Amino acid sequence: MSEKFYITTPIYYVNAEPHIGHAYTTIVADVLNRFHKLAGEETFFLTGTDEHGDKIVTAAENSGQTPREYVDRISGMFKDLWPRLNISNSAFIRTTDLYHQETVRNILSLVKEKDDIYFSEYEGLYCFGCERFYTEKELVDGKCPDHQTEPDVIKEANYFFRMSRYQEWLVEHITQNPEFIRPERYRNEVLSFLSEPLEDLCISRPKSRLTWGITLPFDEDFVTYVWFDALINYVSALGYPEGERFNRFWPHAQHIIAKDILKPHGIYWPCMLKSAGIEPYRHLNVHGYWNIDAGKMSKSVGNVVDPLSLADIYGVDPFRYFVMREMAFGLDSEFSEKALVNRLNADLANDLGNLVSRSLTMVHKYFDGVLPAPGPSGEEDEALRSSAVELVEIYRGHLNKMAFHKGLMAVWEVISDVNKYIDAMAPWVLAKSDPERLKTVICHIYETLRIIAGLVWPFIPASAEKIQEQLGLKRQGENCSLEDLKKWGLEKPVHPIRKAPGLFPRIDVKKKEKHAPAAARKEKPKKAKTDGGEPQGLVSFKDFQKLDLRIGVIVAAEEIPGSKKLFKLTVDMGEERTVVAGIKGHYEKENLPGMQVLLLANLEPAKLMGVESQGMLLAAGDKDGLHLMRPDSETTPGAKVK
Ligand code: MSP
Repeated sequence: MSEKFYITTPIYYVNAEPHIGHAYTTIVADVLNRFHKLAGEETFFLTGTDEHGDKIVTAAENSGQTPREYVDRISGMFKDLWPRLNISNSAFIRTTDLYHQETVRNILSLVKEKDDIYFSEYEGLYCFGCERFYTEKELVDGKCPDHQTEPDVIKEANYFFRMSRYQEWLVEHITQNPEFIRPERYRNEVLSFLSEPLEDLCISRPKSRLTWGITLPFDEDFVTYVWFDALINYVSALGYPEGERFNRFWPHAQHIIAKDILKPHGIYWPCMLKSAGIEPYRHLNVHGYWNIDAGKMSKSVGNVVDPLSLADIYGVDPFRYFVMREMAFGLDSEFSEKALVNRLNADLANDLGNLVSRSLTMVHKYFDGVLPAPGPSGEEDEALRSSAVELVEIYRGHLNKMAFHKGLMAVWEVISDVNKYIDAMAPWVLAKSDPERLKTVICHIYETLRIIAGLVWPFIPASAEKIQEQLGLKRQGENCSLEDLKKWGLEKPVHPIRKAPGLFPRIDVKKKEKHAPAAARKEKPKKAKTDGGEPQGLVSFKDFQKLDLRIGVIVAAEEIPGSKKLFKLTVDMGEERTVVAGIKGHYEKENLPGMQVLLLANLEPAKLMGVESQGMLLAAGDKDGLHLMRPDSETTPGAKVK
C-alpha cells in the first residue's frame, strides 16, 4: 500500500482576478503534488474558489451582475488559469457546489448538537473587508490593519461557536506537534495569540443584512459566516463523512496558505475539526508575501502582477521556476521582472539549456545519436556519479522541509558539476585521443542528465518531459520515481537521442527594458520576441525553411466558453487540425467554414483556454482590425507555402 498525500491551496475569493500571489501558492501545491508522486505516493490535490459573503455581493454589484453570474465568471477564470500554468489539481471545489453546502450544514448540526453553538447579542467593531469582528487591541491606530479603514460598530444577535472551549487542547496539540504549523515563526505567532484568552467565534450573519450564503440548518433567518463555510471545503471535497476518499486522504492533509490567513487556519479550523470529532490536519504550511515596489499589490495602485502575462511572455516553466527559486518559503519576497529575466537567462538558458544541448550534440557528433556502452572509467567519473546519485536524497530532504529554493540550488550545483566535468574531460580531445574513454564520459553525462531531468520535473514539468523525450527515456514525468533516479544506468534510450531546438530562449535584457512597462503592471505587455535571442535580427533562409506553412480550409468554427477573443477552429490541411485563433470580434463564426487560410503547421502545440492549438493562422493587423491571409485562388488543402 502506497503512502498517501493530500495537499490543498486556499480557496480563492472570487472578488478579484487571479494574480501572482494566487499563482505562487498554487504552483507550490503543484510542485509538492508532483514531488510526492515521484516519491511513489498516492496524491490528491485540491484547489477552488470561495464564493459567499459580503465581499462577493459588493463585487457583483460593482460589475452589474447577479452574484450567481458573477461568481460563475470569476471562478471560471481561476479554473481556466490552472491548466495554463500546468497545474495538476485533482479537483476544483466551489463553495456554491451543492454537495459542499450540504456538508457545511451537516457539520453545523453536529457542532450544535455538541452544544458548541449558542445564540447571543453582540456589539462589536466589524471590518467589512475582512468580514469579521475585531477587538480594540487588534486594530492599528483604530483601523483594520489589512484594509486601513475604521471598522463599523455593529450590534446584532448572532450564533457563536464556543471556540474558547478548545483553546487548551489546541495549545497542547501545537506544543506536542512542533511541525503542525510551519515554519516556526508562524507557529510562534499562533502560540502567542493563544497566550491570551480565546474569544468565541461569531459564525452567522442575519439575512436582513446578507442573503448570499449557506442558510443555517437550525435557523432559516441566518446564513453561515463565510470562514466557517469556506474552511469546510477541505473535508467536503473528499466526501466527508462517508466518502472513501475522506478516510484515505484526510489523515494526511496538508494545507498551504500565506500568512494573511494564518488565524482562521491555525486557530478556527483545528477547533472546528475538534468539535466535529474530525482529527486535525497534519501540517499547515505558511508562506510569505510577494511584494511589489516594497509594498502590497493592489488594484488601485495598479501594480497587480498578472501571472498569465508573465507566462505568455517568458514561458510557463521559466515563470514557475522563478517563483519557486526566488522565494524562500515562509519569508516575503520582492517581485521584479528583471530578476525573472536574469534567472531565465542565467539558470535556465545558460546552465540547464546549454548543458542539455551541448550534451545531446556530442552524442550525435561522436556516436550518431546512439548512446554507447561505457568504456574504461576514471576518478572524475566516480566523483560526478556520486554527486548526482547523492543529489536525490539531498533534494528530497529540502523538499520535505518546504525549502524549494534549496532543492533547486542543489540541482543547479550538479548542473554546474556536469558542465565542469565536460570542460575538464574535453570530449572533443578524447574523440581523437581516446575514443573508448569518450564512451564512459558520454554515458556519465547522459546518466546525470537523466537524474537532473527527473528532479526538475515537479518545477518545470513540460521542459523536463522534453529533456526526457530527447534522452529517449521510457520513464518520463510521473512515471519516473526518486528510487529509479538513484539507480545509475537503469535505463537505456528507447530511441536514438533527439537533437531539438533550445529549451529556453534567452531574453535580450537591453531590448526587453525598452519594452517596459512590464507585465507586473497589468497593462497589456508587448510580447517579447524570444526566438534565438535576436529579437530584431534577420532570419536566415535556413531558419525560414524550418517553418511549415500550409494552405488549410476551415471546416468548423466554435465558441470557447469564457473567451472573448478566441475561436476553436477545425482546419483541414490534408489532415484535420484543431487551431485556436484570436479572431473573434473580427470575423463572424458562421462565415468561417469554407474559408481558405494560411497555417503555420509546425508550431509547438499550446493550450489556450483549455483547448490544445495545433498550429497558428496567419493574419495581418491594421487600424481596421485583423485580416486573415488567404491564397488568391482556390488551392489544394495541405499545399506547402514556399
Ligand atoms: N477565501 C479566502 C481563503 C479561504 S481558504 C478556506 C482567501 N482568499 S484570497 O483570494 O484572498 O486568497 C488568499 C491567499 O492568496 C493567500 O493566503 C495566498 O495563498 C495567496 N496570496 C494572495 N496574495 C498574495 C501575495 N501577495 N503573496 C503571496 N501569496 C498571496 O483568503
